[in-house]
Amino acid sequence: MEVSVFGSGYVGLVQAAVLADVGHQVICVDIDDRKIVQLRQGIPSIHEPGLAALLEENIKAGRLHFTTQASDAVAHGKVIFIAVGTPPNEDGSADLQHVLSVARQIAGMMEQDRTLVIKSTVPVGTADKVRMETRATLDARDKTHLNAYVVSNPEFLKEGSAVADCSRPDRIIIGSQDPIAQAQMAELYAPFNRNHERTTYMDNRSAELVKYAANAMLATRISFMNELASLAESLGVDIEAVRKGIGSDPRIGYHFIYPGCGFGGSCFPKDLKALIHTAEENGIEPRLLRTVTRINDDQRQLLLHKLKAQFPEGLAGKSIAVWGLAFKPNTDDMREAPSRYLMEALWAEGARVRAFDPEAMTECRRIYGYRNDLELCATRDDTLQDADALVICTEWKAFRVVDFDELRKKLRARLVIDGRNLFNPQQLARAGLHYIGIGLPYIR
Ligand code: UGA
Repeated sequence: MEVSVFGSGYVGLVQAAVLADVGHQVICVDIDDRKIVQLRQGIPSIHEPGLAALLEENIKAGRLHFTTQASDAVAHGKVIFIAVGTPPNEDGSADLQHVLSVARQIAGMMEQDRTLVIKSTVPVGTADKVRMETRATLDARDKTHLNAYVVSNPEFLKEGSAVADCSRPDRIIIGSQDPIAQAQMAELYAPFNRNHERTTYMDNRSAELVKYAANAMLATRISFMNELASLAESLGVDIEAVRKGIGSDPRIGYHFIYPGCGFGGSCFPKDLKALIHTAEENGIEPRLLRTVTRINDDQRQLLLHKLKAQFPEGLAGKSIAVWGLAFKPNTDDMREAPSRYLMEALWAEGARVRAFDPEAMTECRRIYGYRNDLELCATRDDTLQDADALVICTEWKAFRVVDFDELRKKLRARLVIDGRNLFNPQQLARAGLHYIGIGLPYIR
């Protein structure tokens, strides 16, 4: 099938590559010509396992093309994905200008019926707006006989496993009540439904809310565990034991109940804000969602509070080693990362930071390269030179095996603050380290 994808960010690029890989003919379009030049050579614009190989293979096979020309994409794709950004407005609502302008652009050029598939995360009612705008544009062109079908097809991929998630989706949500569009989507996704049917059909508005509901539910689980971790800590209880104890109930499960230094990334914080905004707009007081956000805001300050409590003299002049800059492992993305909240707070207190991340060093240099109170270290262990304490912000595998004697010798205050509960508190206490996790009993 001929498919076009507008937007070659996380969602658009991965979607385009995966659709090409199952045999569709895909054109991916973006306004950023530097990015398109690189993509044509198979160089991915994001760090994502498996993506480079997928690009190379499908470009070589002639199934995947990149362009800056919207007209080529509109002429090519019977099905056209809209996967452009929906950044937050000042008031938390999602900014739809890119989605709507792409929709208008498509309607302004199409000469045959087209199906517009909204992949971007968009608030309830967006498909209705896209439908109205495309109709108006077509009518203004005297193309009253042409149809622009609008499908809401939210994406559930996770950064760090985007290719795997997109290639083997656990569900495919199709929001459209139009039989022609539904049939096209069934054909498009048939290769993903071979073993069993993963598609659920519903109306556009329900599909739009499914996406927010999923992210809000996951964020709620995390904030719930973070609140319980604070309680556990004050009771001298081990939250890790509690986590295992509740996770074994299949109704609860083990996923997304890891306490930590707060959730980040480009999705949860933004989507929660947008959902809160939608609720308020519709006269519903989003009490739970607001609390989930507030708990997370506090959680991102927790590492600093824990650190300050250990240095009554203040943090000015201290040197703090930070392991993990990305908002989670297997990505170089630092958007809304807990590490940023920590480092910015440390700098405000007059401390220096020595940081390392297995993938996010370039990104960190891009954001904070101008600071002279930040040292970006070549290795994990280089951060420990002349450091007073170590703080862990991301649970990279490369941080799990550590020589604790070495840590004790190097860290002046022998202090490890672990925002991801990577270690066994007894083991660190035996090695002579002060180890403070999230919701863990303090062992001397
Ligand atoms: C999230 C969703 O998981 C995807 O399904 C969704 O498609 C995506 O948002 C999106 O809307 O595009 P992502 O932002 O890549 O994916 O990251 P997650 O793996 O969900 O992690 C989010 C944050 O929660 C991270 O900061 C992570 O460290 C934190 N987290 C996760 C916890 O603190 N505890 C947990 O138990 C799990």
